[in-house]
Amino acid sequence: MTETELIAFFEDLHQHPELGFEEFRTTGKVRQVLEDAGIPVRTPLKTGLIAYLGSGKPGRTIALRADMDALPVTEETGLPYASQVQGKMHACGHDFHTAMMLAAALELKERETEIGGEVLVIFQPSEEICNGAQQVIETGLLDDVEEFYAGHTYPYLPVGTLGIKDGPVMAAPDAFQIRIRGKGAHAGNPHLGTDPIPVACGLALQAQTIVSRAKDAFEPAVLSITHIEAGNTWNVVPEEAFLEGTLRTMHEDVRTEMHQRLTAMAVAFAQASGCTATVEWTDGSPALENDPGLAACARTVAADLGLTLGKQGNTMGGEDFSEYLRKAPGVFIRVGTGGGVANHHPKFTADPRALKGAAHFFAELAIRRSGFMPEEQAGK
Ligand code: NI
Repeated sequence: MTETELIAFFEDLHQHPELGFEEFRTTGKVRQVLEDAGIPVRTPLKTGLIAYLGSGKPGRTIALRADMDALPVTEETGLPYASQVQGKMHACGHDFHTAMMLAAALELKERETEIGGEVLVIFQPSEEICNGAQQVIETGLLDDVEEFYAGHTYPYLPVGTLGIKDGPVMAAPDAFQIRIRGKGAHAGNPHLGTDPIPVACGLALQAQTIVSRAKDAFEPAVLSITHIEAGNTWNVVPEEAFLEGTLRTMHEDVRTEMHQRLTAMAVAFAQASGCTATVEWTDGSPALENDPGLAACARTVAADLGLTLGKQGNTMGGEDFSEYLRKAPGVFIRVGTGGGVANHHPKFTADPRALKGAAHFFAELAIRRSGFMPEEQAGK
């Protein structure tokens, strides 16, 4: 695939965004190119697929992962290849990831004799709602993978630059829902009921003290209450108040402690005013932590290929690539795609001129790691 063909492939995906588990067209396009190149694929799920490359030599099993899904966002970029689907947009650059790893797979096919063991290229469905990785893992097809690598568009670094950090890079994005139950009454006689609204308002403020007063200041954590609802008119004290939001943490012990604290606070706060509270948690993926030894290897490969290493900011966003890292170590790499507009924004863009260099980097990394690139040769 020439660079022009690669960019055309990316632009076509960008024009036809598909949401999580609906990536039928995208899967078909990727499959076609892989099969035309003689690369074996398996399609264990409704959407998404896994490509297999290898020389049959003994070596490591390495996986490269791309996600494929778009977001329910209306595009405002004004690009000539903007989304043709109203209300859907590749606003996180997963079209870029798909095209990039497809190009990496094609390069790996051309250089197949250089592969030490086996390279799996995962085209994963449904990253945005954080359950696609889990479903791919449950197929059992990744049981032998020893290292996982992924690349993600990054608008704050220019084309030709990568961000490769050691340690934590993304948070565990958990969701909570709190129901405060009181007793309804006439608004003129609130003493005859138990008003859940002051409890909900107080709790929304007090909950922030869990972040500011109840954990080490050097431990990152964010607690956001994003939705409050109670009552439906001006002259009735409602029965119930509802709050929901998200807790983002980087370490498991802090995550557990903060879950317990918020639950205990909600229950006690409600009780103190004669109400009751229930708290339900929906756990997201774990925090994403890059393996320092493998990150060093990736930096060596980047430097050898003449790519620049850039500094990336921290984020408390979530990413289900961390599900793979429960099975084996790996590295989540930021690919500089310029533009400067945040991922998920209607004006987000990923510069397609970054595709070729990034695809070559991932192919080279997979080849070296599938052989026996020792970690001590990784440099810095
Ligand atoms: Ni993303």
